[in-house]
Amino acid sequence: MSSKWDNIPALFANEDAFWDRRYWDTRYQQDRTTFEWYRSYESLQPVLSKYLPKDGHLLQLGVGTSRLQVDMADDGYNNITSIDYSPVAIQRLQDLYPGYSQQLSYAVADARSMPQYPDAGYAGVLDKGTLDALLCGDTEAADAGALLGEVWRLLQPGAAYVMITSAAPKSRLKYLQTPATPWQQLLVYEVGQQGALAGPYHCCSSSTGSGGESAAAAGCSSSMPAAGSSEGTLQGSAAAATAAADSNSSSGGGLQEALQLPQMAYSHLVYVCCK
Ligand SMILES: C[S@@+](CC[C@H](N)C(=O)[O-])C[C@H]1O[C@@H](n2cnc3c(N)ncnc32)[C@H](O)[C@@H]1O
Repeated sequence: MSSKWDNIPALFANEDAFWDRRYWDTRYQQDRTTFEWYRSYESLQPVLSKYLPKDGHLLQLGVGTSRLQVDMADDGYNNITSIDYSPVAIQRLQDLYPGYSQQLSYAVADARSMPQYPDAGYAGVLDKGTLDALLCGDTEAADAGALLGEVWRLLQPGAAYVMITSAAPKSRLKYLQTPATPWQQLLVYEVGQQGALAGPYHCCSSSTGSGGESAAAAGCSSSMPAAGSSEGTLQGSAAAATAAADSNSSSGGGLQEALQLPQMAYSHLVYVCCK
């Protein structure tokens, strides 16, 4: 069946084929500069430092040519492994930042399948724009499921998957909230363009979970909202069910409003998923 979109060349040129490794290799080969997606460390630091322990082994998925891990090392993080499935990007970073070999390591790996890394081997997993890239493809549900399944396997109990994106809860939570990834808590922060920080907004928590009591290393245990907390919250089974329903609803909008995210002019969201 034809549509009015059929003759728009850009749709067929795969100009921005973010889900395809060849796209990234070509981009990194052609563009010799570095590129930081979404946000730099400065504005993310308050959230990252809360959930990612400086002395734990962290894994960053899809590092690209970002310097986030370099800034984190300068801020005291001492063990970050950053992966990307583009060998061009990994080589670029190894060439650019040779002085950080004590704190930073790099590897070519596919975030959807990382059997070389041990179960529960990481005190946190960081993702800035990588799940986003996979979700641009035709096999987005399978790709997201594979990535998140690996994240779940690699995280220590109580540790957090911290994901930075511009995707609103109504489109993102359906990938995060699955039976395969029964997070103890799922929180959202909003970071405004000028650095204003709002949240955490509590999307849900596991009804069978321990409430994050085992979250010794990360900030997951300390971020449970107190009774009467002024933080935005959707805690409790009814609210969580509403959130889940809204996130799967094609009409959309409900959860965004339910979470009462402030209307910042241009913002990014940080999802924190506590195992
Ligand atoms: C939008 S860029 C973000 C780069 C970097 N994190 C940043 O914030 O600037 C997405 C990155 O994810 C990488 N990527 C996409 N799918 C991947 C996968 N399955 N495994 C590993 N890396 C992947 C791409 O090569 C690209 O470098």
